[in-house]
Amino acid sequence: MSGLIRFGVSLDSDLSRKFDARLKKKGYTNRSEAIRDLIRQDLIEEEWAGGKEVAGAVILIYDHHKRDLVDRLMDIQHDFSANIISTQHVHLDHDNCLEIIAVKGLSKNIQILADALKVVKGVKHATLSMSTTGKNID
Ligand code: NI
Repeated sequence: MSGLIRFGVSLDSDLSRKFDARLKKKGYTNRSEAIRDLIRQDLIEEEWAGGKEVAGAVILIYDHHKRDLVDRLMDIQHDFSANIISTQHVHLDHDNCLEIIAVKGLSKNIQILADALKVVKGVKHATLSMSTTGKNID
């Protein structure tokens, strides 16, 4: 952080009322923190769109009994070992597994990795949480 600045924002009263209602619902105690978070979210979206270094997590749900599925997921993860920080595997029940794959690297590579995992036959659900290394958002 390189010093604090203050600026005024002009808003239509309807928009302001809706924003304040959302802030209250989300638990913000003031507008400044909410606006900071919106700005950070925008900067993070720009990091992803602009091919910058990013961090995040891929979450997979799959049935480990599906033929070749686990081998295929392993092969892909080994191909992207430079981007995978850690993997946590949870046995949800007799059939279903939840895997959390922490990732870091150029956004393009992370997106390719997430897409490759998502399309493996037998993966029931896959999400990519697009976050940040945290270096450029304060
Ligand atoms: Ni499992």
